[in-house]
This record gives sequence, structure tokens and C-alpha cells, in this order.
Amino acid sequence: MSTAVTPPVLQPIVDEPVPQPVRWGDAELARLTTMVRQPSLFYWNGPQTTALLADFRQHYPLKYLFPCSSGTASLHIAVGALRLRPGEEVIVSPITDMGSVIGILYQQGVPVFVDLDPRTYNMDAGAVRRAITPKTRAIMAVHLAGNPCDMTAFLAIAREHNLAVIEDCAQSWGARHQGTPVGLMGDFGCYSFNDFKHIACGDGGMVGTNLDRYGNGLSKWGDKCYDRVAGTRDPEELAPNYRMSEPQSAVCVAQLGKLEDIVTRRNRAGSLLTSLLQNLPGVLPPVTRVGDFHSYWFYFMRLELTQLKCTRADFVAELKAQGVAANAGYIPMPVFRYKVFQNHNFFGGAWPIRDFGLTTMDYTKVRCPVAEAILEDGITMPLNQAMSDSYIEKVARAIRSVAARLAR
Ligand SMILES: Cc1ncc(COP(=O)(O)O)c(C=O)c1O
Repeated sequence: MSTAVTPPVLQPIVDEPVPQPVRWGDAELARLTTMVRQPSLFYWNGPQTTALLADFRQHYPLKYLFPCSSGTASLHIAVGALRLRPGEEVIVSPITDMGSVIGILYQQGVPVFVDLDPRTYNMDAGAVRRAITPKTRAIMAVHLAGNPCDMTAFLAIAREHNLAVIEDCAQSWGARHQGTPVGLMGDFGCYSFNDFKHIACGDGGMVGTNLDRYGNGLSKWGDKCYDRVAGTRDPEELAPNYRMSEPQSAVCVAQLGKLEDIVTRRNRAGSLLTSLLQNLPGVLPPVTRVGDFHSYWFYFMRLELTQLKCTRADFVAELKAQGVAANAGYIPMPVFRYKVFQNHNFFGGAWPIRDFGLTTMDYTKVRCPVAEAILEDGITMPLNQAMSDSYIEKVARAIRSVAARLAR
């Protein structure tokens, strides 16, 4: 007979599953029910799209808007409307989604990756400034994880060098820089309604601008360069079909009605967690600039491994044992390290603008040490509007107990 003693089962500090919000319901159903009775599901003058544009402007008063098929599409439309010329450069973050750079590359532009601020994980203004060349055309401000970029600095740099600013707000619905919602400060605001975002319709996006020089024609950039206003068809430029259709618009209208509540709750949960993780050896919570409003698409903190007697993997394993839904890292590597960049394999194994001497960019030589470090010691955790203060307090207690045990 075995004499082994079964160790007592310890209750994890977070003793409940990750709260999950109900994301779609009666409001979406009501809109969709009305929609299926329409004679057409086409976006142009469609009732759902018309309602979406009106409601969107309540949150983001942009003069020109085009509802489109994805955040990627919104950014591609912005770059197209800017009339980026082959070989022109757009400064962008190396910690982002491919969607930020796909449009730049398709327009034969050059994404120029610059390093990040170690605590906000957004582009460092000094690094942006140093990356400017005579070919620089735009700065793409990616507001990562819901934390606004230092738009005051970026706008000053842009003014000084006559650059456009494209705001990638895919992860930052409801975020504000010094009181102004993201997407309203640059030349273009670009948003994503993909399934994972604060508000979602499966896949969708929105691009907007207040500037007549880009806005007149913005819609053409996502609609084959057809002129819906004049009803004419004689495209003067090459443009894709990135239209949204009525079913997505119907869901988006209902989702926008929930935006403020979702963002308020996420900000409360994220801010509480950040405040509870202050002054904890080995743990660096994210930093939001004073006067900015973080809408916490997810929670992204870093470890100070010199203060800990363990690896990040050990720390995450301990967090998981305590019931925290923690993940080691975010994207696996900076975007410029992806194979497509390392091999310059953008168009069937070739990169025409480099072959024709319009750029000398070599992505194998790009270095962004802060971005690399963030991805090596960062920990991401889900954060959502269903998380109560007491749930967040448990998560904080679990992190504090793991850090206390593993501190040097
Ligand atoms: C920062 C950022 N930009 C752009 C995109 C692209 O959005 P979509 O997936 O809607 O094309 C995403 C999507 O994850 C994103 O996180």
C-alpha cells in the first residue's frame, strides 16, 4: 500500500474563470431584423450605413467617412487617398498588426520601423524624428493596446517636416489624448471592427478625415474609384473594393451604442490593475501619459527580469497556477522580422521599388532594441468590460504574491 501523502489542493487566488461579456444581443438583432426586410444590402444610401455614419460622427465628428471591410482596408484607403508615391516612406511601429503596413506596401511605399517608448509601447518621438528623410511622407501613429500615442509630439514633428499623420486606432476605440479622441488629431483616423476589438461586427473598418484635400475622393479609394455621387464610372486611379455592406453596418450601429459603456468599464478595470501593481519589484505596469485616457484593449505589462530569480516563462506559469490568464509576450517578434520582410518577398518574390532603385531599405538590417525587449519580457492578459473590481483585485493579488515569491 502506498504511503505517499497527496499534497493539499491549493485554491488559486483568482478562483473564477475569466469573465466574458455578452457582446451581441437584442440591439444587434433588432437592427438585423429591419435590415433583412430591405430591398438591398448595398452600402450606398443604405439605411444601416446611413445610420452608422450618423452615429459614428457622434463619437468621432469627421467630415468625410468611408465604412470599409477591415481596419487593414481603412489604413490602405488612407495611404491611397494620401496619394503616396512609389518609394515614399511611412514611419510606423514595429509592434503592431500586419494590417498597419499592408496598404503602405501595396501602394509601393516603404514602412520605416522605429523604436518604442519602453513604458507606453508606442513610438518614441525622438526615434520618429531621427527616422525622417527627404522621402518621408507620413507618420502612422499606432495607439497600441488602447494607450494613446504622444500625439502632441508627433503633430509637432509632422508640422515641422510637412508630413501627414495617419492614426491607427484599431486597438484604441474610445481612447483620448489630452481630451481629444484618437483619430481626430491626425490627417486620417482609421478604425477596425474586427471580431476581437472593443466593438465588432465580425470584420469591418472605418476611415475618416476632416481635410477636403483627402476627403473629396476618400470613398472612391475603397470603392474601385467609382464616383457614387456623380453616378459615373471612369476610374482615374487604381483602387480596390473595400466596401462595407449593410449587414456589417447594422451590427456596427448597435455596437456603437455600447461603446461608451464598454470603454468606461475597460478603463476602470485597467486603471485599477495598474494602480494595484505600483511599486512591485520585478513588475512594470504600463504607463499612460498624464491627461491621456487608456481604453485597455488588453493589458500589457513588463517584467524587470534583473529583479526576479526566474524566467518570464516561470513567472507566467506561476501566474497561471494562480488562475491568472497570462500569456508570455504579444506578437512573436517585431513586424520587420517576419519572413515577408526579411526576404523582401512582397510581390511574387520581388520588391519592384527596390529593384528599380526607389528605395535602399534592407529589413535584415533594421534594429529596434526596445521593441525587441518589450516582446521578450512583456506579459499580456485579457481585459474586458465584464471584469468587476473584485475580479481585478484578485488578479492584482495573484501578481503581487507571485512577484513577492520570485523577487531576488
Ligand atoms: C493596430 C492594428 N492595426 C490594424 C489592424 C488591422 O485590422 P483588421 O484586422 O480589421 O484588418 C489591427 C488588427 O488587429 C491592429 O491591431
